[in-house]
Amino acid sequence: MEDKKLIFSGIQPTGTFTLGNYIGAVRNWGPLQDDYNCIYCVVDMHAITVRQEPAKLRQNTLNSYALLMACGIDVEKSILFIQSHVKTHAELNWILCCNTQFGELSRMTQFKDKSKKHPDDINAGLFTYPSLMAADILAYNADLVPVGVDQKQHLELARNIAQRFNQRYGDFFTVPEPYIAEVGAKVMSLQEPSKKMSKSDDNPNAVILILDDKDTIIRKFKRAVTDSEAEVVYREGKDGINNLMTIYSSVTGKDFKSIEAEFAGKGYGDFKLAVGEAVADHLEPVRTEFARLIQDKAYLKECYTAGAEKALRYSQRTLNKVYRKVGFVDR
Ligand code: TRP
Repeated sequence: MEDKKLIFSGIQPTGTFTLGNYIGAVRNWGPLQDDYNCIYCVVDMHAITVRQEPAKLRQNTLNSYALLMACGIDVEKSILFIQSHVKTHAELNWILCCNTQFGELSRMTQFKDKSKKHPDDINAGLFTYPSLMAADILAYNADLVPVGVDQKQHLELARNIAQRFNQRYGDFFTVPEPYIAEVGAKVMSLQEPSKKMSKSDDNPNAVILILDDKDTIIRKFKRAVTDSEAEVVYREGKDGINNLMTIYSSVTGKDFKSIEAEFAGKGYGDFKLAVGEAVADHLEPVRTEFARLIQDKAYLKECYTAGAEKALRYSQRTLNKVYRKVGFVDR
């Protein structure tokens, strides 16, 4: 690979993204590939730390893979693979588990939250989740990891694990830094615009999924919660309108001033329809490309097989050195 910094990121196999994920993060990944070496991994092994229906997990993993390609990850430029296809992740995880403290894992807020949510299944994998994540990152000696706030604590732990390993066994792992992307806009729920748009929202009208069809997208925007004024302006207290303006601005590139001018004297109905149409048109190429890819199973398989081979070659070198460092006998 060329001498550029290396970015690594893992993506949960949820099978789809929200408009919030897309505007805030995913759509920036394509352009990154020119400035960095990028490795992206669909983390099916992390996914089974909570109960999954096997057939669904398989489908969602493939969907996520195809969707990442449809969103601009180019398998010629980047390495894109499925975590369980590359055995070094599980192997390195074991070594890192032996360099991670019970106390550290016990402090992870995501572990505490998920334990509360699934009190009948607080399994060891859920507990050691962050050391597998550290293995993902350290196996490639990644320089940078794009993370949202919810994963910051896990990345911090990965750094601590790397530093501890380096102290015990001699400088080896690159200590990864968080990659703070140019802030993509934050997209809020269409129904409760003071809350972040979230896939797990109980109200489907609150969330735009990037694979929603045009009619669905327009219908959800028509129902978006606004306020009792009738003025399209960006102002404190107008959470609903502010959110719609943010979305409209993100997909059209227009700034708030020109949006205000465009809709001066018009009602919210016109504005919501315009936002819905702009979003649907913007996402159209992603939907079309996804539909094409997900039908072409043979091509998809070719891509994820090649991705796994590249990832294995790369990470096996790291693992071999780690095995020597900790004192395992050479094969
Ligand atoms: N835990 C991350 C999440 O839930 C996914 C993930 C797994 C990840 N391994 C990673 C993210 C390595 C960055 C780097 O979103």
